[in-house]
Amino acid sequence: MNQFPIAVVVGSLRKESFNRKLADAIVKLAPSEFSFKQVNIGDLPLYNQDDDSNAADTVKRMKAEIGAARGLLFVTAEYNRSIPGVLKNAIDHGSRPYGQNVWAGKPAGVIGVSTGPIGTAMAQQHLRNVLAYLDVPTMGQPEGFIQAKEGLFDAAGEIGPDRRKFLQGWVGHYAAWVKRHGSA
Ligand SMILES: Cc1cc2nc3c(=O)[nH]c(=O)nc-3n(C[C@H](O)[C@H](O)[C@H](O)COP(=O)(O)O)c2cc1C
Repeated sequence: MNQFPIAVVVGSLRKESFNRKLADAIVKLAPSEFSFKQVNIGDLPLYNQDDDSNAADTVKRMKAEIGAARGLLFVTAEYNRSIPGVLKNAIDHGSRPYGQNVWAGKPAGVIGVSTGPIGTAMAQQHLRNVLAYLDVPTMGQPEGFIQAKEGLFDAAGEIGPDRRKFLQGWVGHYAAWVKRHGSA
């Protein structure tokens, strides 16, 4: 089926990242014509404009993976009320060289989980600002501000009962958003 390959970008490198777990759980709630690939952003060098004409292999790989996707899913941690540097670094890489912005036009969803009560709201707002500039149509509603609490994930790594209905609904809206805005 695989009509809608989605590139998943997780804004955390932590081994036990809640955001990676959330991304894995979201994948399990998606319709069958969607497939998801987590893009590795932990092996990218720090962005340096001097390297625009001589990109590292890891940068080329990331850009190829984004280029092949029909949609984007950002699942991000919040660091100091913004997006983690590692995520901004990946976004900057994908946006250059000038005129070769690989993110442009790809419909996106933004969601995240944090230990704080605002559930990455500030990070997501900053991310939306960046994505707007990069011409990424980003789903506005429903917003997904998730707080990491006991029982968020069950033993199998699936979303626990408290947030399951909400996330199933969120994924449904996301799938519809990608179908509406993701050109073939
Ligand atoms: C450098 C740093 C800054 C943080 N800043 C925030 C913050 O602004 N808001 C918040 O809710 N949590 C903040 N946290 C806590 C994170 O929500 C928590 O570490 C969370 O587990 C990160 O996501 P992850 O599990 O996917 O790595 C911060 C954590 C770190 C390491």
